[in-house]
Amino acid sequence: MKTAEATALSYAIEPQADADLPAVEAILDLAFGPDRHQKTAYRLRDNVEPVQALSLVARQDGKVLGTLRFWPILIRRAGAADVPALMLGPIAVLPELKGRGIGISLMREGLARAQALGHRIVILVGDYPYYSRVGFQHTEHGRFIMPGWVDLDRLLALELVSGALEGISGHIVSVAKTFK
Ligand SMILES: CC(C)(COP(=O)(O)OP(=O)(O)OC[C@H]1O[C@@H](n2cnc3c(N)ncnc32)[C@H](O)[C@@H]1OP(=O)(O)O)[C@@H](O)C(=O)NCCC(=O)NCCS
Repeated sequence: MKTAEATALSYAIEPQADADLPAVEAILDLAFGPDRHQKTAYRLRDNVEPVQALSLVARQDGKVLGTLRFWPILIRRAGAADVPALMLGPIAVLPELKGRGIGISLMREGLARAQALGHRIVILVGDYPYYSRVGFQHTEHGRFIMPGWVDLDRLLALELVSGALEGISGHIVSVAKTFK
């Protein structure tokens, strides 16, 4: 008898459809719990739509197995123009399918699409040992200031264009607040 681990998992990484949203929210509830909206990252997501072209799902036979979205953010600099960037996440897969490569596949596809669309900088709050697998680096403490408490060892950044982060620092702010 084949075990789940021995069974090849075939799925496609595809754009998220509107009809996927309930399944996406259910996976996020399972992964992070219903209190996830209290996290600092959500201060940057409130009243802002995710980047539609970068909202991806892992799908097998119509079923959503995993989700990845990116939010637009701004790096607000003292005495200089805001720098647009992306915040990666949330990312989650169905608990029973963790460790099968879905998360890395979602990120590789999402980051490739982001780069193709001309995005230059991606930041996230997460575990360095995992996200370094797709190139994320630690940021110097104090270089980027989030709109709430975060563990600074988990504040990571990635250049999609070589040199894009050079000399860049500031407050990470919501795109929504720009117009208030
Ligand atoms: C984090 C998550 C999206 C990873 O997706 P996944 O499909 O399980 O991961 P992958 O199969 O692509 O990668 C698995 C590998 O990454 C490692 N890994 C997974 N999460 C990790 C973490 N947080 N820190 C370090 N390593 C991690 C696994 O140990 C595994 O290592 P191996 O290849 O040496 O066996 C998934 O586990 C998940 O949904 N977790 C709950 C939600 C969550 O924590 N999201 C991230 C918030 S920052």
